[in-house]
Amino acid sequence: MKAEFVSLKDMSFDVYEDIFTLAAMVWPPKEPVPAREKFDSLKSRIGRRPEGFSVVYEGSELLGTAYIEERIITVGDKELPVAALGGVCTHPDVRGRGLGALAVRKVFEAVDAGEYPVCLFQTSFKVEPFYLKLGAARITNRIVNSLARTGLPPRQMRRQVFWDDVVMIYPGTFCLPSGDINLQGPGY
Ligand SMILES: CC(C)(COP(=O)(O)OP(=O)(O)OC[C@H]1O[C@@H](n2cnc3c(N)ncnc32)[C@H](O)[C@@H]1OP(=O)(O)O)[C@@H](O)C(=O)NCCC(=O)NCCS
Repeated sequence: MKAEFVSLKDMSFDVYEDIFTLAAMVWPPKEPVPAREKFDSLKSRIGRRPEGFSVVYEGSELLGTAYIEERIITVGDKELPVAALGGVCTHPDVRGRGLGALAVRKVFEAVDAGEYPVCLFQTSFKVEPFYLKLGAARITNRIVNSLARTGLPPRQMRRQVFWDDVVMIYPGTFCLPSGDINLQGPGY
């Protein structure tokens, strides 16, 4: 089986619907949002660097995916474009067969090719070992969002910055300066 990268600008709604359906199975949404609305919103904010989803299909069934988009963050007082990784998941029936690694390696290729200096993401203590095996490393910089909105319901407030246990970068060898990381936008 192999992973393919589908760039957001070339992506059809059919492929996005497969991704949306798998993601909704893995993370059942609290308030359902129509797939078409999310698709249009993603398409409306395409950046300069490669952005899109890796997809691992078996026949017509989507079994794994991962997503990167461009975010411009600051570390200390320096701007840094990063590959913002999200939406990493595999179908519950096929876990442990290497498909998650395939999906993530495919989006990490944009970093390996020099399209982005580094990938930045959050994850749980439970999943951290999966990313360590792929060459990522945990970082301990404080994460902030100077553009955080206020007055939102508690769940949305929490998402104004990273909310999970661990923050990681890929490659783990990237020399990230010390200092606060300002996401300059919500967590992802
Ligand atoms: C995390 C997830 C994508 C891993 O997918 P997967 O298809 O099971 O992963 P793979 O089979 O490719 O695993 C690759 C390696 O990581 C290891 N690994 C995977 N998940 C792991 C975990 N939770 N803890 C420790 N090791 C893990 C595997 O054992 C395998 O090791 P090996 O190369 O030595 O055999 C999948 O469990 C998932 O969809 N989880 C729910 C959603 C989620 O938490 N996503 C991550 C959000 S940051």
